[in-house]
Amino acid sequence: MDLGIRGRVALVTGGARSLGQADASVLAAEGCRVAIFDLNARAPRRRPRHRGGRRVARGYGCDVRESAQVADAVATATRDLGPIDICVNNAGIIFTMAQLKDTSDADWELNLAVNLTGSYHVTKAVFPGMRERRWDGSSAWRRSPD
Ligand SMILES: NC(=O)c1ccc[n+]([C@@H]2O[C@H](COP(=O)([O-])OP(=O)(O)OC[C@H]3O[C@@H](n4cnc5c(N)ncnc54)[C@H](O)[C@@H]3O)[C@@H](O)[C@H]2O)c1
Repeated sequence: MDLGIRGRVALVTGGARSLGQADASVLAAEGCRVAIFDLNARAPRRRPRHRGGRRVARGYGCDVRESAQVADAVATATRDLGPIDICVNNAGIIFTMAQLKDTSDADWELNLAVNLTGSYHVTKAVFPGMRERRWDGSSAWRRSPD
């Protein structure tokens, strides 16, 4: 498949395992350099680490709930790989969710902090650069008849 994203830099949150790891693998196979932000900084094992002598994926320890950590990780990844063009807000948790009667306020707050606020922090950190480089989808939207 050629999605037309070769050479782009992609960020995948929660990419150290499972669905995020699969996302990172596909993006690497499409020719992207991939930054993985995860509580576990180890980049996934089951995908090419190098292409043509260049490392294609790097892991960055980052808790997406913390805006300062996100800002630091974005700055470091940008220095290592280049400006981020693609953002996959995958980091999330579902294991705390139960029936309403069994859900504690702390579990509810944790879900909101990771799944919602985490996506907000990451998107807010990378979106201005994407927009500057006109890689935010707005040009495609403008072409839409609607
Ligand atoms: N697996 C499913 O069936 C399913 C179904 C619906 C939605 N989802 C959603 O898809 C996403 C991925 O699911 P998964 O099954 O691959 O999850 P997973 O638990 O296997 O992996 C999640 C990854 O996110 C990381 N992570 C968790 N909290 C983080 C934080 N605060 N900061 C940075 N990284 C953090 C973890 O370390 C882990 O590597 C989640 O958002 C989940 O809610 C999954």
